[in-house]
Amino acid sequence: MTVAGARSNGFGSFGPFDPGGTGDAPATDPARALHRLTTLPVVPLGRWPSPVSAGESAAGPVLVKRDDLSGLGRGGAKTRKIEGLLGHLRAVGHDELIAFAGNITNLAFDITPILREHRIRSTVLVVDDPPMAPSDRERHFAGIRDDIRLLGPSRVAAARAAAGAYAAGRAAGRRPLVVLPGVCHPSAILGNARGVLELAEQGPLPRAIFVSVATGNTIVGFLVGAALLAARGHPPVRVVGVQVYPGRIDLLARLLARWTTRWLGVPALRLPPLEIVTTEVGRGFGDYPDRLVDLCERVAATNGIAVDPIFGAKTWSAMEAMMARGEVEGPCMFWHCGYTPEWRDLRGAEQKAAGS
Ligand SMILES: Cc1ncc(COP(=O)(O)O)c(C=O)c1O
Repeated sequence: MTVAGARSNGFGSFGPFDPGGTGDAPATDPARALHRLTTLPVVPLGRWPSPVSAGESAAGPVLVKRDDLSGLGRGGAKTRKIEGLLGHLRAVGHDELIAFAGNITNLAFDITPILREHRIRSTVLVVDDPPMAPSDRERHFAGIRDDIRLLGPSRVAAARAAAGAYAAGRAAGRRPLVVLPGVCHPSAILGNARGVLELAEQGPLPRAIFVSVATGNTIVGFLVGAALLAARGHPPVRVVGVQVYPGRIDLLARLLARWTTRWLGVPALRLPPLEIVTTEVGRGFGDYPDRLVDLCERVAATNGIAVDPIFGAKTWSAMEAMMARGEVEGPCMFWHCGYTPEWRDLRGAEQKAAGS
């Protein structure tokens, strides 16, 4: 399916997306953006709406948005990303996706079988970060080995590999799309914006949503969703991101937000402030203290939900701390983005690779 009016240069559509191909002037007001958001091409994959449940934290009652029950692959908010991205790939006629990932990735495991099923070729370039012993790495990725390329640690080499894959795809007559790590492309990010619209239909909105931040895809989508709801008269929602590994994710998130609002046709949309808590970052991806392992056990025992110490427990911990210090008004919501089943093996992957 090719949609007239959609523009792509292979690295993403930078202009306003016109899914209907009507050639309308770009949307300038949130109502039209909301219309666009809800009419963008999507390939339905998840079970929606994901439930909202009442939970108990050490700092009082919380709400939990159960995207871990999305029903696709490992479950989680990534289902929303994939639905939007796949809709875009099909609508624009891309038949190949070139994506980046690190050694700790849930997304690569979920997206590769789906792309295969939809006959879209995938080239997932996996950078050796955090570094892992080659044999551990082979074992970890065994299930999706044919759909990925294991690279060394250099990001420059990964960019070169992407350029090479793109050129090879074009030379073979394909239409590849290259996306940033975490499939950061507006079509994927807006999948998460739709998650916030879904939430508004499930009852009164929480005052604050807590979400894990790895690449920034999910939090930026939530900010766009919250901004569109506020523009429609809903009460303001704080979106608090909890960064899970070191890096200037705030800068990347700002760029993604600009790209996404432009792509949606509302470059002037005022997003809620970008709040990123860095207290749980750790020394690297996969680095976590024992207290977070205890927290996972407590959350499982009191709420019956599985969170891992690489992502979810960091966010739960920061949420409890901010609630306890009175830094956030309730009700607070923990947005369950998914679970990393091999979190024990991935712990301190860096130290293991170094032989310490
Ligand atoms: C379990 C889990 N939570 C949160 C995230 C964070 O998502 P993002 O990369 O969109 O910031 C991911 C993505 O890797 C994840 O797998």
